[in-house]
Amino acid sequence: MEKLTVRDLDAANRRVFTRVDYNVPMEEKDGRMVINDATRIRETIPTLELLIEKGARIVLAAHLGRPRGKREPGLSLRPVAAQLAELLHRPVAFVDDCIGEKVEKTANALKPGDVLLLENVRYYIEEEANDAGFAQQLAKVADVYVNDAFGAAHRAHASTEGVARIVARRSGPCAAGLLMERELKFLGDELEHPAHPFVVILGGAKVSDKILVIDRLLEKADALLIGGAMAYTFRLAQGHRVGKSLVEPDKADVARAALDKAKSKGVKFLLPVDDVVAVPARTDKRDKKGKPVIEYRNPATNTGLDCPDDAAGLDIGPATIKAYGEVIAGAKTILWNGPMGLFEHKEFAAGTNAVAQAVAEATQKGAKSIIGGGDSVKAINQAGLGGRVTFMSTGGGASLEFLEGKVLPGVAALTNK
Ligand code: 3PG
Ligand code: MG
Repeated sequence: MEKLTVRDLDAANRRVFTRVDYNVPMEEKDGRMVINDATRIRETIPTLELLIEKGARIVLAAHLGRPRGKREPGLSLRPVAAQLAELLHRPVAFVDDCIGEKVEKTANALKPGDVLLLENVRYYIEEEANDAGFAQQLAKVADVYVNDAFGAAHRAHASTEGVARIVARRSGPCAAGLLMERELKFLGDELEHPAHPFVVILGGAKVSDKILVIDRLLEKADALLIGGAMAYTFRLAQGHRVGKSLVEPDKADVARAALDKAKSKGVKFLLPVDDVVAVPARTDKRDKKGKPVIEYRNPATNTGLDCPDDAAGLDIGPATIKAYGEVIAGAKTILWNGPMGLFEHKEFAAGTNAVAQAVAEATQKGAKSIIGGGDSVKAINQAGLGGRVTFMSTGGGASLEFLEGKVLPGVAALTNK
Protein backbone atom coordinates (compact mmCIF):
# COMPACT_ATOMS: atom_id res chain seq x y z
CA MET A 1 0.00 0.00 0.00
CA GLU A 2 1.42 3.36 -0.97
CA LYS A 3 1.79 5.76 1.91
CA LEU A 4 1.46 9.51 2.15
CA THR A 5 4.90 11.15 2.29
CA VAL A 6 6.21 14.51 3.51
CA ARG A 7 6.22 15.58 -0.13
CA ASP A 8 2.41 15.43 -0.15
CA LEU A 9 1.98 17.44 3.06
CA ASP A 10 0.64 20.89 3.57
CA ALA A 11 2.75 21.64 6.62
CA ALA A 12 2.79 25.45 6.65
CA ASN A 13 2.57 26.80 10.17
CA ARG A 14 1.49 23.41 11.54
CA ARG A 15 3.13 21.57 14.42
CA VAL A 16 4.62 18.53 12.74
CA PHE A 17 5.38 15.79 15.27
CA THR A 18 8.25 13.95 13.61
CA ARG A 19 9.47 10.60 14.96
CA VAL A 20 13.12 10.05 14.10
CA ASP A 21 15.53 7.25 15.02
CA TYR A 22 18.35 9.03 16.82
CA ASN A 23 19.34 5.88 18.68
CA VAL A 24 23.01 6.52 17.86
CA PRO A 25 26.09 4.88 19.36
CA MET A 26 27.53 7.07 22.12
CA GLU A 27 30.47 6.86 24.44
CA GLU A 28 31.55 8.73 27.56
CA LYS A 29 34.69 10.78 27.04
CA ASP A 30 36.06 13.12 29.73
CA GLY A 31 32.78 13.09 31.60
CA ARG A 32 30.51 13.84 28.65
CA MET A 33 28.68 11.76 26.09
CA VAL A 34 29.97 11.93 22.52
CA ILE A 35 28.34 10.52 19.40
CA ASN A 36 30.41 7.86 17.63
CA ASP A 37 28.42 7.65 14.42
CA ALA A 38 25.96 10.35 13.35
CA THR A 39 24.63 8.51 10.27
CA ARG A 40 21.11 8.20 11.63
CA ILE A 41 21.02 11.94 12.37
CA ARG A 42 22.50 12.91 9.00
CA GLU A 43 20.04 10.71 7.13
CA THR A 44 17.05 12.70 8.46
CA ILE A 45 18.34 16.04 7.18
CA PRO A 46 16.54 15.88 3.78
CA THR A 47 13.20 15.36 5.53
CA LEU A 48 13.87 18.19 7.96
CA GLU A 49 15.01 20.55 5.20
CA LEU A 50 11.86 19.82 3.24
CA LEU A 51 9.69 20.46 6.29
CA ILE A 52 11.55 23.70 6.98
CA GLU A 53 11.02 24.77 3.38
CA LYS A 54 7.31 24.06 3.79
CA GLY A 55 7.20 26.30 6.87
CA ALA A 56 6.49 23.52 9.35
CA ARG A 57 6.98 23.96 13.09
CA ILE A 58 8.96 20.82 13.78
CA VAL A 59 8.75 18.81 16.98
CA LEU A 60 11.19 15.89 16.94
CA ALA A 61 10.71 12.83 19.12
CA ALA A 62 13.19 9.97 19.52
CA HIS A 63 14.47 7.31 21.87
CA LEU A 64 18.00 6.54 22.99
CA GLY A 65 18.99 3.17 24.39
CA ARG A 66 16.76 1.22 26.72
CA PRO A 67 16.38 3.21 29.97
CA ARG A 68 13.10 1.36 30.74
CA GLY A 69 11.30 4.32 32.26
CA LYS A 70 14.27 5.68 34.23
CA ARG A 71 15.87 9.07 33.64
CA GLU A 72 19.37 7.77 32.95
CA PRO A 73 21.50 10.90 32.36
CA GLY A 74 23.83 9.04 29.96
CA LEU A 75 20.85 8.40 27.68
CA SER A 76 19.79 12.02 27.30
CA LEU A 77 19.24 13.28 23.76
CA ARG A 78 20.75 16.68 24.57
CA PRO A 79 24.07 15.90 22.77
CA VAL A 80 22.01 14.89 19.72
CA ALA A 81 20.35 18.32 19.63
CA ALA A 82 23.79 19.94 19.43
CA GLN A 83 24.95 17.60 16.67
CA LEU A 84 21.71 18.11 14.72
CA ALA A 85 22.07 21.90 14.94
CA GLU A 86 25.53 21.57 13.43
CA LEU A 87 24.30 19.37 10.57
CA LEU A 88 21.24 21.54 9.88
CA HIS A 89 23.15 24.83 10.16
CA ARG A 90 20.42 26.25 12.36
CA PRO A 91 19.48 26.30 16.03
CA VAL A 92 17.72 23.29 17.50
CA ALA A 93 15.76 23.89 20.69
CA PHE A 94 15.77 21.17 23.35
CA VAL A 95 13.38 20.50 26.22
CA ASP A 96 14.41 18.05 28.94
CA ASP A 97 11.08 16.26 28.80
CA CYS A 98 8.84 14.87 26.07
CA ILE A 99 5.43 15.65 27.58
CA GLY A 100 3.99 18.31 29.86
CA GLU A 101 3.55 22.03 30.12
CA LYS A 102 7.11 23.00 29.22
CA VAL A 103 6.93 20.94 26.04
CA GLU A 104 3.57 22.39 25.04
CA LYS A 105 4.70 25.96 25.71
CA THR A 106 7.88 25.57 23.68
CA ALA A 107 6.13 23.76 20.83
CA ASN A 108 3.38 26.36 20.66
CA ALA A 109 5.95 29.16 20.48
CA LEU A 110 7.76 27.61 17.49
CA LYS A 111 7.79 29.72 14.34
CA PRO A 112 7.66 28.26 10.83
CA GLY A 113 10.97 26.53 10.17
CA ASP A 114 11.89 26.21 13.87
CA VAL A 115 13.08 22.85 15.17
CA LEU A 116 12.57 21.44 18.66
CA LEU A 117 13.97 18.11 19.90
CA LEU A 118 12.21 16.48 22.86
CA GLU A 119 13.97 14.42 25.51
CA ASN A 120 14.20 10.59 25.25
CA VAL A 121 10.66 9.21 25.05
CA ARG A 122 11.85 6.02 26.80
CA TYR A 123 12.37 7.96 30.03
CA TYR A 124 8.69 7.01 30.35
CA ILE A 125 7.85 3.32 30.68
CA GLU A 126 4.54 4.17 28.97
CA GLU A 127 6.33 4.71 25.66
CA GLU A 128 7.16 1.05 25.08
CA ALA A 129 3.81 -0.03 26.51
CA ASN A 130 2.14 2.13 23.82
CA ASP A 131 0.07 3.58 26.65
CA ALA A 132 -2.96 5.45 25.33
CA GLY A 133 -2.79 8.25 27.91
CA PHE A 134 0.90 8.83 27.22
CA ALA A 135 0.29 8.89 23.47
CA GLN A 136 -2.44 11.51 24.10
CA GLN A 137 0.12 13.61 26.01
CA LEU A 138 2.59 13.40 23.13
CA ALA A 139 -0.13 14.13 20.59
CA LYS A 140 -0.89 17.47 22.26
CA VAL A 141 1.85 19.02 20.13
CA ALA A 142 0.96 17.15 16.93
CA ASP A 143 -1.20 18.67 14.21
CA VAL A 144 0.53 16.45 11.67
CA TYR A 145 2.47 13.20 12.19
CA VAL A 146 5.60 12.24 10.27
CA ASN A 147 7.56 9.03 10.77
CA ASP A 148 11.14 9.03 9.52
CA ALA A 149 12.28 6.44 12.09
CA PHE A 150 12.53 3.36 9.91
CA GLY A 151 14.94 1.82 12.44
CA ALA A 152 12.22 1.86 15.10
CA ALA A 153 9.25 1.13 12.84
CA HIS A 154 9.11 -2.50 13.98
CA ARG A 155 8.11 -1.25 17.43
CA ALA A 156 4.45 -0.52 18.20
CA HIS A 157 5.29 2.14 20.76
CA ALA A 158 3.48 5.36 21.68
CA SER A 159 5.68 7.64 19.56
CA THR A 160 5.93 5.25 16.61
CA GLU A 161 2.31 4.07 16.49
CA GLY A 162 0.03 5.47 19.20
CA VAL A 163 0.44 9.15 18.28
CA ALA A 164 -0.14 8.40 14.59
CA ARG A 165 -3.43 6.68 15.41
CA ILE A 166 -4.54 9.69 17.47
CA VAL A 167 -3.61 12.21 14.76
CA ALA A 168 -5.42 10.07 12.17
CA ARG A 169 -8.55 9.95 14.35
CA ARG A 170 -8.54 13.76 14.32
CA SER A 171 -8.32 13.51 10.50
CA GLY A 172 -4.74 14.78 10.57
CA PRO A 173 -2.29 13.41 8.00
CA CYS A 174 0.34 10.79 8.97
CA ALA A 175 3.17 10.71 6.47
CA ALA A 176 6.41 8.86 5.83
CA GLY A 177 9.60 10.92 5.91
CA LEU A 178 12.04 10.79 3.00
CA LEU A 179 14.36 8.36 4.79
CA MET A 180 11.46 6.06 5.58
CA GLU A 181 10.40 6.29 1.94
CA ARG A 182 13.90 5.36 0.72
CA GLU A 183 14.16 2.43 3.11
CA LEU A 184 10.81 1.04 1.98
CA LYS A 185 11.81 1.52 -1.66
CA PHE A 186 15.14 -0.28 -1.43
CA LEU A 187 14.33 -3.00 1.08
CA GLY A 188 10.82 -3.39 -0.34
CA ASP A 189 10.07 -2.56 -3.98
CA GLU A 190 13.60 -3.10 -5.32
CA LEU A 191 13.82 -6.57 -3.82
CA GLU A 192 10.27 -7.43 -4.75
CA HIS A 193 11.18 -6.95 -8.41
CA PRO A 194 14.96 -7.45 -8.54
CA ALA A 195 17.06 -7.43 -11.69
CA HIS A 196 18.60 -10.90 -12.10
CA PRO A 197 20.92 -12.48 -11.14
CA PHE A 198 19.81 -11.58 -7.64
CA VAL A 199 22.49 -12.59 -5.14
CA VAL A 200 21.81 -12.62 -1.41
CA ILE A 201 24.71 -12.69 1.04
CA LEU A 202 23.77 -13.63 4.58
CA GLY A 203 26.00 -13.84 7.60
CA GLY A 204 25.90 -13.27 11.32
CA ALA A 205 25.83 -15.51 14.32
CA LYS A 206 22.49 -17.25 14.26
CA VAL A 207 20.41 -19.19 11.77
CA SER A 208 17.39 -18.51 13.95
CA ASP A 209 17.76 -14.74 13.32
CA LYS A 210 17.81 -15.21 9.57
CA ILE A 211 15.70 -18.25 8.81
CA LEU A 212 12.54 -16.32 7.92
CA VAL A 213 14.57 -14.06 5.63
CA ILE A 214 16.21 -17.09 4.00
CA ASP A 215 12.84 -18.71 3.48
CA ARG A 216 11.37 -15.62 1.86
CA LEU A 217 14.39 -14.80 -0.28
CA LEU A 218 14.59 -18.33 -1.64
CA GLU A 219 11.47 -17.32 -3.60
CA LYS A 220 13.29 -14.45 -5.31
CA ALA A 221 17.03 -15.03 -5.32
CA ASP A 222 19.25 -16.83 -7.83
CA ALA A 223 21.98 -17.48 -5.28
CA LEU A 224 22.42 -17.39 -1.52
CA LEU A 225 25.91 -17.07 -0.07
CA ILE A 226 26.20 -18.00 3.58
CA GLY A 227 28.90 -16.86 6.01
CA GLY A 228 29.35 -16.08 9.69
CA ALA A 229 28.79 -18.50 12.52
CA MET A 230 25.40 -19.48 11.10
CA ALA A 231 27.25 -21.41 8.38
CA TYR A 232 28.25 -23.95 11.06
CA THR A 233 24.66 -24.86 11.83
CA PHE A 234 24.33 -25.70 8.12
CA ARG A 235 27.54 -27.74 8.30
CA LEU A 236 26.18 -29.53 11.34
CA ALA A 237 23.02 -30.29 9.35
CA GLN A 238 25.23 -31.82 6.66
CA GLY A 239 26.92 -34.06 9.21
CA HIS A 240 30.26 -32.24 9.55
CA ARG A 241 32.21 -31.63 12.73
CA VAL A 242 31.99 -28.05 13.98
CA GLY A 243 34.46 -28.08 16.90
CA LYS A 244 33.86 -25.13 19.23
CA SER A 245 32.14 -23.03 16.57
CA LEU A 246 29.02 -21.14 17.59
CA VAL A 247 26.15 -23.40 16.51
CA GLU A 248 22.45 -23.90 17.17
CA PRO A 249 22.08 -27.69 17.22
CA ASP A 250 18.30 -27.36 17.65
CA LYS A 251 18.16 -25.44 14.36
CA ALA A 252 19.88 -28.13 12.29
CA ASP A 253 16.53 -29.37 10.94
CA VAL A 254 15.56 -25.83 9.97
CA ALA A 255 18.87 -25.51 8.14
CA ARG A 256 18.29 -28.81 6.38
CA ALA A 257 14.83 -27.66 5.28
CA ALA A 258 16.33 -24.48 3.81
CA LEU A 259 18.89 -26.54 1.89
CA ASP A 260 16.11 -28.76 0.53
CA LYS A 261 14.00 -25.78 -0.47
CA ALA A 262 16.96 -24.20 -2.28
CA LYS A 263 17.47 -27.42 -4.19
CA SER A 264 13.85 -27.74 -5.22
CA LYS A 265 13.72 -24.07 -6.29
CA GLY A 266 16.98 -24.32 -8.23
CA VAL A 267 18.59 -21.62 -6.10
CA LYS A 268 22.37 -21.85 -5.73
CA PHE A 269 23.03 -22.22 -2.01
CA LEU A 270 26.70 -21.69 -1.26
CA LEU A 271 28.31 -22.58 2.05
CA PRO A 272 31.96 -21.95 2.96
CA VAL A 273 34.39 -24.52 1.51
CA ASP A 274 37.19 -23.39 3.82
CA ASP A 275 37.53 -21.14 6.83
CA VAL A 276 39.77 -19.44 9.35
CA VAL A 277 39.73 -21.22 12.68
CA ALA A 278 41.30 -20.43 16.07
CA VAL A 279 41.33 -21.85 19.57
CA PRO A 280 39.09 -19.85 21.91
CA ALA A 281 40.36 -19.22 25.44
CA ARG A 282 38.56 -17.50 28.27
CA THR A 283 40.47 -14.69 29.98
CA ASP A 284 40.07 -12.81 33.27
CA LYS A 285 39.38 -9.61 31.33
CA ARG A 286 35.85 -8.22 31.05
CA ASP A 287 34.38 -6.18 28.22
CA LYS A 288 32.33 -2.96 28.60
CA LYS A 289 29.19 -4.99 29.23
CA GLY A 290 30.92 -7.04 31.91
CA LYS A 291 31.15 -10.21 29.84
CA PRO A 292 34.37 -12.26 29.98
CA VAL A 293 36.67 -11.50 27.05
CA ILE A 294 37.51 -14.49 24.85
CA GLU A 295 40.92 -14.62 23.21
CA TYR A 296 41.43 -16.53 19.97
CA ARG A 297 44.76 -18.33 19.71
CA ASN A 298 46.61 -19.78 16.72
CA PRO A 299 44.43 -18.51 13.88
CA ALA A 300 44.88 -20.74 10.82
CA THR A 301 43.25 -21.50 7.50
CA ASN A 302 41.36 -24.77 7.54
CA THR A 303 40.75 -26.35 4.15
CA GLY A 304 38.49 -29.22 5.16
CA LEU A 305 34.77 -29.10 5.90
CA ASP A 306 35.40 -30.41 9.43
CA CYS A 307 36.53 -28.06 12.15
CA PRO A 308 39.25 -29.26 14.55
CA ASP A 309 37.71 -30.25 17.89
CA ASP A 310 39.49 -27.57 19.93
CA ALA A 311 38.89 -24.72 17.44
CA ALA A 312 36.08 -22.43 16.35
CA GLY A 313 35.40 -21.18 12.82
CA LEU A 314 35.67 -17.38 12.78
CA ASP A 315 35.85 -16.28 9.15
CA ILE A 316 35.42 -17.65 5.64
CA GLY A 317 38.67 -18.82 4.02
CA PRO A 318 40.45 -17.79 0.77
CA ALA A 319 38.80 -20.40 -1.50
CA THR A 320 35.37 -19.31 -0.25
CA ILE A 321 36.28 -15.65 -0.77
CA LYS A 322 37.18 -16.49 -4.37
CA ALA A 323 34.01 -18.51 -5.02
CA TYR A 324 31.70 -15.91 -3.43
CA GLY A 325 33.53 -13.11 -5.26
CA GLU A 326 32.80 -14.74 -8.63
CA VAL A 327 29.09 -15.04 -7.90
CA ILE A 328 28.92 -11.45 -6.62
CA ALA A 329 30.74 -10.18 -9.72
CA GLY A 330 27.96 -11.54 -11.93
CA ALA A 331 25.08 -10.08 -9.89
CA LYS A 332 22.64 -7.40 -11.01
CA THR A 333 20.99 -7.07 -7.60
CA ILE A 334 22.76 -7.73 -4.31
CA LEU A 335 21.35 -7.86 -0.81
CA TRP A 336 23.85 -8.22 2.01
CA ASN A 337 22.95 -8.75 5.64
CA GLY A 338 25.38 -9.96 8.29
CA PRO A 339 29.19 -10.20 8.39
CA MET A 340 31.15 -13.24 7.16
CA GLY A 341 33.11 -13.59 10.40
CA LEU A 342 34.23 -11.94 13.60
CA PHE A 343 35.18 -8.83 11.64
CA GLU A 344 35.79 -6.67 14.70
CA HIS A 345 39.04 -8.66 15.09
CA LYS A 346 41.41 -7.99 12.22
CA GLU A 347 42.56 -11.64 12.07
CA PHE A 348 38.98 -12.56 11.15
CA ALA A 349 37.98 -9.57 9.01
CA ALA A 350 39.42 -10.67 5.65
CA GLY A 351 36.28 -12.49 4.50
CA THR A 352 33.94 -9.64 5.36
CA ASN A 353 36.29 -7.06 3.82
CA ALA A 354 36.65 -9.11 0.62
CA VAL A 355 32.88 -9.43 0.29
CA ALA A 356 32.54 -5.67 0.88
CA GLN A 357 35.11 -5.07 -1.86
CA ALA A 358 33.35 -7.46 -4.26
CA VAL A 359 30.00 -5.78 -3.60
CA ALA A 360 31.52 -2.33 -4.24
CA GLU A 361 33.08 -3.53 -7.50
CA ALA A 362 29.84 -5.12 -8.71
CA THR A 363 28.05 -1.85 -7.92
CA GLN A 364 30.56 0.06 -10.00
CA LYS A 365 29.75 -2.28 -12.91
CA GLY A 366 26.05 -1.46 -12.60
CA ALA A 367 24.60 -3.79 -9.98
CA LYS A 368 22.24 -2.41 -7.35
CA SER A 369 23.62 -3.20 -3.91
CA ILE A 370 21.49 -2.99 -0.82
CA ILE A 371 23.03 -3.38 2.60
CA GLY A 372 20.51 -4.58 5.14
CA GLY A 373 21.62 -2.60 8.14
CA GLY A 374 23.25 -3.34 11.49
CA ASP A 375 26.65 -5.07 11.45
CA SER A 376 26.95 -5.24 7.66
CA VAL A 377 26.80 -1.44 7.49
CA LYS A 378 29.44 -1.25 10.20
CA ALA A 379 31.56 -3.68 8.20
CA ILE A 380 31.19 -1.75 4.92
CA ASN A 381 32.14 1.45 6.69
CA GLN A 382 35.07 -0.23 8.45
CA ALA A 383 36.29 -1.29 4.99
CA GLY A 384 35.97 2.35 3.87
CA LEU A 385 33.45 1.43 1.15
CA GLY A 386 30.35 3.16 2.54
CA GLY A 387 30.04 5.51 -0.43
CA ARG A 388 30.36 2.73 -3.01
CA VAL A 389 27.14 0.78 -2.51
CA THR A 390 23.66 1.74 -3.70
CA PHE A 391 21.89 1.83 -0.36
CA MET A 392 22.69 1.21 3.29
CA SER A 393 19.77 0.76 5.64
CA THR A 394 19.67 2.63 8.95
CA GLY A 395 17.64 -0.19 10.46
CA GLY A 396 18.88 -3.23 12.35
CA GLY A 397 16.01 -5.28 13.73
CA ALA A 398 13.58 -3.26 11.60
CA SER A 399 15.29 -4.15 8.30
CA LEU A 400 15.38 -7.81 9.25
CA GLU A 401 11.68 -7.89 10.13
CA PHE A 402 10.84 -5.98 6.97
CA LEU A 403 12.89 -8.40 4.86
CA GLU A 404 11.00 -11.24 6.51
CA GLY A 405 7.89 -9.74 4.96
CA LYS A 406 6.39 -8.51 8.21
CA VAL A 407 4.20 -5.43 8.30
CA LEU A 408 5.95 -2.84 10.47
CA PRO A 409 3.54 -1.17 12.91
CA GLY A 410 5.18 2.24 12.40
CA VAL A 411 4.49 1.96 8.66
CA ALA A 412 1.03 0.47 8.99
CA ALA A 413 -0.08 3.48 11.06
CA LEU A 414 0.67 5.95 8.23
CA THR A 415 -2.03 7.33 5.95
CA ASN A 416 -2.68 5.39 2.76
CA LYS A 417 -2.56 7.39 -0.44
C1 3PG B 1 17.65 0.15 16.91
O1 3PG B 1 18.69 0.75 17.16
O2 3PG B 1 17.62 -1.05 16.57
C2 3PG B 1 16.37 0.92 16.94
O3 3PG B 1 16.58 2.24 17.29
C3 3PG B 1 15.38 0.27 17.88
O4 3PG B 1 15.88 0.19 19.18
P1 3PG B 1 15.37 -0.98 20.13
O5 3PG B 1 15.89 -2.27 19.56
O6 3PG B 1 15.91 -0.66 21.50
O7 3PG B 1 13.86 -0.96 20.10
MG1 MG C 1 17.60 -3.09 18.04
